[in-house]
Amino acid sequence: MSPAGGAVLVTGAAGFIGSHVVDHLLARGDTVVGLDNFDPFYDPALKRENLAAALAAPGFTLVEGDLRDRALVDRVLAEHRVDAVIHLAARAGVRPSLADPELYADVNVRGSAVVFEAARAAGITRVIYASSSSVYGGNEKLPFAEDDPVDHPVSPYAATKKANELQAHVYSRLHGMTMIGLRFFTVYGPRQRPEMAIASFTRRIAEGRPVPMYGDGTSRRDYTYIDDIVAGVLAALDRGEGYRIYNLGESRTTSLARLIELIGEALGVTPQIERLPEQPGDVPATWADIRRARDELGYDPQVPVEDGIRRYVAWFRGRGEAGR
Ligand SMILES: NC(=O)c1ccc[n+]([C@@H]2O[C@H](COP(=O)([O-])OP(=O)(O)OC[C@H]3O[C@@H](n4cnc5c(N)ncnc54)[C@H](O)[C@@H]3O)[C@@H](O)[C@H]2O)c1
Repeated sequence: MSPAGGAVLVTGAAGFIGSHVVDHLLARGDTVVGLDNFDPFYDPALKRENLAAALAAPGFTLVEGDLRDRALVDRVLAEHRVDAVIHLAARAGVRPSLADPELYADVNVRGSAVVFEAARAAGITRVIYASSSSVYGGNEKLPFAEDDPVDHPVSPYAATKKANELQAHVYSRLHGMTMIGLRFFTVYGPRQRPEMAIASFTRRIAEGRPVPMYGDGTSRRDYTYIDDIVAGVLAALDRGEGYRIYNLGESRTTSLARLIELIGEALGVTPQIERLPEQPGDVPATWADIRRARDELGYDPQVPVEDGIRRYVAWFRGRGEAGR
């Protein structure tokens, strides 16, 4: 059960992060309703696999549909007596958003408007939603802290995530709802979206194909292991109050060149590298200041990237099919 005793709605339940959140909520005995439209951004069959365990659990109901469908969302909230929402559904990814900014705005901004307004109308007072480290744009002050200026996004995707934070503010201010935004820093682990760097590099290295390295390999990312993200999401659900934004990262950075090396080491293969120019929309560094999440949510990330990559590669090998 959610903190108030009803069901928790997880949007984007079949996705990478959503499916792990669902599994952990079910494991601790919560009742969960998942909403997902199995969007074709990547192979929907992978999303069905993501939910295999959840679908066998008694506390889980899957609703297949689009979160932009207000009547559907209203019905789900009422029928399942939802009293908290974890809103993770979105078109994710910085680079693909440059190709289709209108779709990103429609799903991420209009879709969130539907979810937030339906939650308000249903009397739900607790909403946790996914923001992103990309809202920090090209900020040069490191590590990134929640109170740093975030008015200069450099991709359509980042602009939609910043918009979600503004939308959430309105619901907190006007309606007194608890609206907790989580700025995830590059999340990885089993079920990672196949187009993300760690998943696609692992496939390529395992198959002996070159890895595209954009820029000179010195760009740095704060890579966050999925279990740490899930712990942060659950802590926000249980402990978040008011209008709050939290960085969820490991608070360590790894260069792109080192990341490729780590994957090669875990696979026991020397990676071949194809050097390519910097990509528009990419930022030179991300690095999370996580003191606020530590202090207020008890967030305490446990998995350094060296361990996390080994775990990811073990999972990748275990599924046998080279991740498709
Ligand atoms: N993975 C990361 O590193 C990362 C980093 C920052 C923020 N985020 C955010 O976290 C959230 C989850 O990301 P993810 O990596 O799990 O992505 P994902 O693509 O695996 O999951 C998103 C899910 O939302 C669903 N969805 C998309 N449009 C929908 C719609 N209109 N109606 C219903 N469902 C819809 C998709 O089918 C998918 O299953 C997203 O909001 C993303 O922007 C992710």
